[in-house]
Amino acid sequence: LVRSRQKATKILWRLGVPPQEVEVMEGDITLPYLGLPLRLYHKLAQQLQAIIHCAAITRFEPSPLQAFWANILGTSNLLFLARQTGDPLPFHYLSTAYVAGKKRGLIREDELDPGPGFNNLYEKSKYLAEYLLRKYRERHPFPLTIYRPTIIVGDLKTGTHWNNFGLYHFLTMVTRLHRSATIRILGNPRAIKNLVPVDHVAEVIGRILQEKRYWDRTYHITSRHPLTLEILAEAFNRALGREAVRIVSGEEWRKRPPNRQERIIARLSEPYQPYLLYEPLFDTSNTDRVLKEAGWCKPVLDRESIVFLLSQAYGGLKDYAGTKTLSQC
Ligand SMILES: NC(=O)c1ccc[n+]([C@@H]2O[C@H](COP(=O)([O-])OP(=O)(O)OC[C@H]3O[C@@H](n4cnc5c(N)ncnc54)[C@H](OP(=O)(O)O)[C@@H]3O)[C@@H](O)[C@H]2O)c1
Repeated sequence: LVRSRQKATKILWRLGVPPQEVEVMEGDITLPYLGLPLRLYHKLAQQLQAIIHCAAITRFEPSPLQAFWANILGTSNLLFLARQTGDPLPFHYLSTAYVAGKKRGLIREDELDPGPGFNNLYEKSKYLAEYLLRKYRERHPFPLTIYRPTIIVGDLKTGTHWNNFGLYHFLTMVTRLHRSATIRILGNPRAIKNLVPVDHVAEVIGRILQEKRYWDRTYHITSRHPLTLEILAEAFNRALGREAVRIVSGEEWRKRPPNRQERIIARLSEPYQPYLLYEPLFDTSNTDRVLKEAGWCKPVLDRESIVFLLSQAYGGLKDYAGTKTLSQC
């Protein structure tokens, strides 16, 4: 179910999936009966074997109404669909590791705790959607599998990236504003960021979907050895082929008043500020079990892999010839 058949067809074409292998329906998860004609909705409910719910408003600062509509009401409408026939259908939900909000320290996969609150409305709405599904499952048990990736970046094998959300959105702003002088960005240069390649996320989800025994749990999907912001900024500069950014601590920031570009970036990047200061540690016990049994391992996103991914996205380094580290155990 997609909002635009045209967009879906383009994506299937890019992925090399023959259109006859996927039945695409145009609808909207915020509408009653997902915006489908009633007969089609009931037919769908009879035929479905599982629901995989990925749709969301992914901007960090949507309006409260947009966040509520798409991320919470949309999830509730899909839960309603799952309950149309006898036992509710198995439900697979793409959440985010950042439902942990402002919590620090180790975040377990089975915990969902509003704790000290959230950094933005996106996190809060994703938390509430997960809460809704878990609460319903408590009263009416059904297989609920929750996937929580960290920050998804491009495909580590091809470099392709699919959207302009999160990190890519932030970096696009920087590339548009950068002129000649290095732009200082206020943050904690030593803070780590867990970026995870989209191909790994898809492989892990695919594996879990195929094996019923893995259902009904929550999975943090992450990389090994996350990099510091300092190293990420350096990789970004190498990918662009110029020194565009430097992450600086509060002390260094205060030494010199920010120039116009730095002020603009600081204002535009306000929703990202908390991510430039701190990252919790995400427990991955459930995911580790799946990976171990499949003989796979978590990807290592080292400096070279990031330069590769970002140079593909921003085209600074033509024909990047560096080595990239693929999944290593
Ligand atoms: N990207 C990340 O770093 C990341 C990390 C962790 C978790 N996630 C989760 O992964 C999922 C996919 O995210 P993404 O990165 O692929 O973001 P995305 O590119 O913004 O994709 C979101 C999709 O949801 C669809 N959608 C939004 N509102 C809808 C509605 N009312 N009815 C039907 N479809 C609707 C959008 O459709 P249109 O194409 O029509 O706009 C879009 O295809 C989300 O649940 C997100 O929370 C993403």
